[in-house]
Order: sequence, then structure tokens, then C-alpha cells
Amino acid sequence: MNVSLPITNPLRIGLRQERVIPPQCLVIFGASGDLTHRKLVPALFELYKQRRLPSEFALIGCARRPWSNEEFRQRMEKALKDKVERNKNEWDNFAKCLFYVPVDLQKEEDVLRLKDKLEEIDQKKATHSNRTFYLSVSPKFYGSGCKSLASAGLLGDPKRSRVVIEKPFGRDYKTAQALNQLVQTCAQENQIFRIDHYLGKETVQNILVLRFANTIFEPIWNRNFISSVQITSAETVGVEDRAGYYETSGALRDMVQNHLTQMLTLTAMEPPGHFDPEAIRNEKAKVLQSARLANEHEPWKCCVRGQYSKGGSQGYPLIGYRDEPGVAPTSTTETFVATKLFVDNWRWQGVPFYIRTGKRLAKRLSEIVLTFREAPVHLFDAAGGCPTSNQLILRIQPNEGAEFKFEVKSPGSGMRSRPVEMEFSYDESFGEPSDEGYVRLLADAMLGDPTLFTRSDEVEAAWRLYTPLLELIEDSPWQLPIYQYESRTWGPSESDQLLAKDNLLWRRP
Ligand code: BG6
Repeated sequence: MNVSLPITNPLRIGLRQERVIPPQCLVIFGASGDLTHRKLVPALFELYKQRRLPSEFALIGCARRPWSNEEFRQRMEKALKDKVERNKNEWDNFAKCLFYVPVDLQKEEDVLRLKDKLEEIDQKKATHSNRTFYLSVSPKFYGSGCKSLASAGLLGDPKRSRVVIEKPFGRDYKTAQALNQLVQTCAQENQIFRIDHYLGKETVQNILVLRFANTIFEPIWNRNFISSVQITSAETVGVEDRAGYYETSGALRDMVQNHLTQMLTLTAMEPPGHFDPEAIRNEKAKVLQSARLANEHEPWKCCVRGQYSKGGSQGYPLIGYRDEPGVAPTSTTETFVATKLFVDNWRWQGVPFYIRTGKRLAKRLSEIVLTFREAPVHLFDAAGGCPTSNQLILRIQPNEGAEFKFEVKSPGSGMRSRPVEMEFSYDESFGEPSDEGYVRLLADAMLGDPTLFTRSDEVEAAWRLYTPLLELIEDSPWQLPIYQYESRTWGPSESDQLLAKDNLLWRRP
């Protein structure tokens, strides 16, 4: 069963709703880095192609390398090779907005030189001193980077200047709190945009629309009807060339504290009074205040950590994490985490939220699965012995969309039931792939709309939630051992036991 709209080109018939970005100079620190090449400049080019960047726009790339404007443009063109080949004229026009200034953010004279350049750009491109500074640098420079910008007077106007800070924001509760205190001495909270690219995903935002634009879900979206929630973000890729960062992070810090916890807050939050950044973020923060690990005082009982070992097939062998370049042969960094949480409030008391993420798993897939309580009486024979519980599956990626599983009568003279699925697919209904998260988030940052960015109290509360686990890993790691799992499987079998204790299974689509 498909739910689809009779629409072929939403752009043409004006389904897409876009807001106008004001004249703008976007400054990216860390312009020689991977994120700029792979995500940020491609997202800006996408905005340009969609005619959403103002004509008064400039992008200034900053890093320590002594590149010229031309060299920066060429490197970006190379990074976007496929996209540029298909849109060469558009790229050539877009590239005229790209500039490069060699800057070491720690050096006052460099930042002052950048300030002069910004004033020059304001004259040349009429960008009206509207500036968005994007810190795509090593996390250890987030605080000092903000300080340098503030000392140079670049964050002085809260209406015209803002700073975007990448994840990870801190390493734990204390460091996040200290970083918040530091950046808040440099800029007002409404100028600080802590980015989590999962919030830029159309399907993650759709959690709010699905819940609050329909009447059928809210009445059953609670402990009376829902028996458990599973949130999974599975990747097939390994650590790739990021071992330097990943070895100091691991899956708990890299994915759980931010992306998975954001999906949890949107799933569990109360309806906001209105659609306003603070109203939304207040409700999300409240979820985190009520959330706790299932066994706070014995956290080893509600968490499983794993690390991928070799696997793959004969024709396509995959090496284990410890053999990856840059990884210590005795590394105890987890590439897989599964944990169980509760949200102690009226809506969710007693409903387990199971969270799992890992690299080199069997499939690339992010989804939220709400399992409903069983029918109280079984009147019919069911295929497989007993009727399956209804499930609502929000498919975050890939195959973006949602599906609902329920029982129907099997054809024939008997009264036997069997499960079927009703499905909604973004692709089929809207006829075009969703934008990458960064497209939405870069536009929102330049618009000064913080709704999809993490507020200081949210980020701290998210770290506080996982503190018992982080402390355990730090102080007595033997209590939370690392189980090896073969690459391209669903993680260590111990994670199945986490659910088996509650008579449940992870969904394995
Ligand atoms: C990043 C993590 O934040 O998210 C990566 O640092 C991870 O390790 C990535 O691969 C996953 O993002 P997505 O959008 O591909 O699910």
C-alpha cells in the first residue's frame, strides 16, 4: 500500500517553501579540511543552484595554508568534480564568490587582517557586515577561536554576526559546561549555533510534522499504547581516514551523545505551544532533564560496547578496526554502542528506549521504531503463531519515509491474520531526493534561525545523561568490556542479549 501525492515536480508547482537569506559573508575556518570539501562547499553550491543565496554573497575560506583565491577555487572545483561537470557555467559564476585568506586563528595579526578583508568584501559585495563564522576546526580551538573573533570585535553586533560550532561540543559534561561558559563570554547565546547535522535531515524534521500536524498519532504517542522505542543509526563504513579523531572519541561521543540523542528528544518531546526556536528547544531540553540510563547506578548492565574485527567476503575482505591505519593495535575505542534509557515523565514512564549505533554493520540505515502494545485478546489464528505488534517505523535514511505495520485478514475461508506494511516514501511522493542536512543548516545559520541548532542547556544535559557510562569507561573499563564483532554483521551478540532480557529483538530490516 503506498501513500503518495500526485506530484512530479514540487519546485515547479511551488511546494518547496524557501526563506530569503539576507546579504551575507560566510567565513569558514578549516577551509583546507575534509568537511569543507565534502559537505560545506557542496551544500553552498546546492543553495546557489537552487537560487537561494543572495546576489550579495561571499564565501571566505580560511586556513593556515598559503593558498590564493584561485588555488582555493580550483581545489573546491576538484572536490565537487561530478557536480561541476554537470553545471559548469553555474560553478564558474558561483566560484567568483569564493575567496581565500590564510589565517591562523590563534594569531591576532591574522584575525585583524581578516577583519580588513571582511570590510573590503562588504564594500565590494554589499554584504552589509552580515557575517556567519563557521568553526570547522579541531574542537580544541573552539573556545580560543571564539575568543580571537571577539577580541577583534567581529562578534560585537548580535544582529549581524554569529558563529557556527561543529560537534563534538566538549568531551563530557564538565568540558561542555566550561566551553559554554567561555563562548558565552564572547557572544550572546542567540549568536551561537551548535550544529548537529542530523537535525538538518528532512526525515528528522519530519518527526515533528508527523507528530504535530496530524491528529491520529498524538493520542497514542505515549506509555499507554507504546511498549518500546528503538533508535538505530547503522553504518557500513569503517573509520576511514579519521582514526586520529575517532581514537579519542568512539561511538558514544561521536554518535550517541549528539545524533541519536537528538532523535530521541524529537521522538519523546511534548508538543510545543508554537513553532518557535525557544518553544521547541525548551521541550527538547525537558526530555533530557527526565531521561536517564536504565541502570544509572550499575551502568554496565544497560550498555554494550563493541569493536569491529575483520570480515567481508573473499572478493572484498575488510580489515578489523585495530588494523586500520592510525589505530593502536590494542585500541579499546568502541565502534559500536547499544544502550537502554528511560524518560521518567508522565508520557513515557516505564517505556524503554533502546539506542544503537555502529560502524561496519550489516546495512546503512537510520530509523526510529515505535512498537505498540499487543492486542489484549487474540481472537484469530496468526501467521507465525501469534499476531505481531503494530509498529511505526520512521525511516531516517536511506529510503527516507515511514511505514506502519499492522495485521490484516489473510485471503481465504479461514480467519487467519498476517502482518502487512503501509508505506510512505519521500522519493515517490515528492519526486526528488532530499537535500543534505548541511544545505538546510547552512541556510538556517545565515538566516539566523536557531531552531535546528542545539542550545547550551541541551548540549550539557545530553552529556550529563551519559556521564555514568563515560566515567565507567574512564575509571573501570573492565566493567564495560569491548566485544569484537565481525565486520558487516549487526554487532556483538551481547547487544541482542540487552533486548532479550526484556523479551525483545532488535529490528533487522
Ligand atoms: C558524523 C560522525 O557526525 O556522522 C561520523 O562523526 C558518522 O563518524 C557520520 O559517519 C554519520 O552521518 P550520516 O549523515 O552519514 O548518517
